[in-house]
Amino acid sequence: MAKNTVLVSGGAGYIGSHVTVELIEAGYNVVVADNFSNCDATCFEGVKKITGKKIPFVEMDFCDAEAVNDLFAKYKIDAVIHFAAFKAVGESVEKPVLYYKNNLCSFLNVLDAASHHGGCNVLFSSSATVYGEAENLPVTEKTPRLPATSPYGNTKQICEDILRDTVKATNVNRSPEWAIKGIALRYFNPIGAHPSALIGELPRGVPNNLVPFITQTAIGKRECLSIFGNDYPTADGTCLRDYIDVVDLAKAHVAAVARMLEGRMEEDYEIFNIGTGRPVSVYELVSAFEKVNGLKLNYKYAPRRAGDVVAIWADTALANEKLGWKAERSVEDTLASAWAWEKHIAEMEAVKASSEE
Ligand code: UD1
Repeated sequence: MAKNTVLVSGGAGYIGSHVTVELIEAGYNVVVADNFSNCDATCFEGVKKITGKKIPFVEMDFCDAEAVNDLFAKYKIDAVIHFAAFKAVGESVEKPVLYYKNNLCSFLNVLDAASHHGGCNVLFSSSATVYGEAENLPVTEKTPRLPATSPYGNTKQICEDILRDTVKATNVNRSPEWAIKGIALRYFNPIGAHPSALIGELPRGVPNNLVPFITQTAIGKRECLSIFGNDYPTADGTCLRDYIDVVDLAKAHVAAVARMLEGRMEEDYEIFNIGTGRPVSVYELVSAFEKVNGLKLNYKYAPRRAGDVVAIWADTALANEKLGWKAERSVEDTLASAWAWEKHIAEMEAVKASSEE
């Protein structure tokens, strides 16, 4: 049987590169496309090393409708996983037009091209941010979405709706082989790196997210980690999140793609929470990082960060049952992988600096 081809838009980035590895290891043909707007070629090079495969790569912007169309015309794409989007919450508040334009246009172009080239399965990378400050925890896929508190979060909600409506229209009006099926995966907090330490998160500038800030503090790039708020109504006063290992997260994509391609979907558009189902506080995460890596982190308590929710974690029953997927890596192993990756970055930077001398 011919292998199915999966397009990974934004496949050179943090999550996209891990997903590319898992797809290849599961036997799919993968086409990666990226414009390197928020990453360099480091992770894509890492993917090639890990898999030992030549992977078709197209450098392109998904806001360029013609380029997206050409891509679909060139490759017979059976499924697309769409990561090509901006993701910084704070920046989106400062530059809403940039965020709406980039995140919505790129996704619309994918759907448009998919509908002109014989239908497709579309997997959209959504976020737990759509739940906002949920009243009842853990959140299930039926928990109502709350109005987004940032343009970034709003683009996730709007893209979910665009996918839902597109799927509905194509399944009503078209023959099955021309229809679009869709899955939105709502990620909780992705952290960690591949066990090879060849791919991981490479934030530009000062990291906004917790784990890259921890690892950069540990390596000496940042002086001190600020823990935002220790007066929340939680056991130790710090916020609770559901930290999902990036390799586990990548495997959830493979399970979702297989569900679509093997015709196992129960609805034409489905949503799954992708998390561990376990709340971990910021303090617990910092302590686990120190313990597993045998080091002391310089940190202090600072005022709460605007826009943070006290607590959110996933009910993962639906993903466990329907995708046959479960988060497996322990938080300790994940934090060890994040540290190994930070050390790998330092080595790469040292090599670069010495070659420039
Ligand atoms: C944020 C985004 C989410 C996005 C996710 C990607 C919102 C409100 N948040 O989630 O949409 O999908 O990143 O990973 O849209 N913290 C510190 N010190 C730091 C950094 C963070 O104490 O230097 C704390 C935060 O207050 C929070 C926790 O660590 O309690 C996690 O923060 P972060 O990694 O930024 O993720 P979220 O804000 O949960």
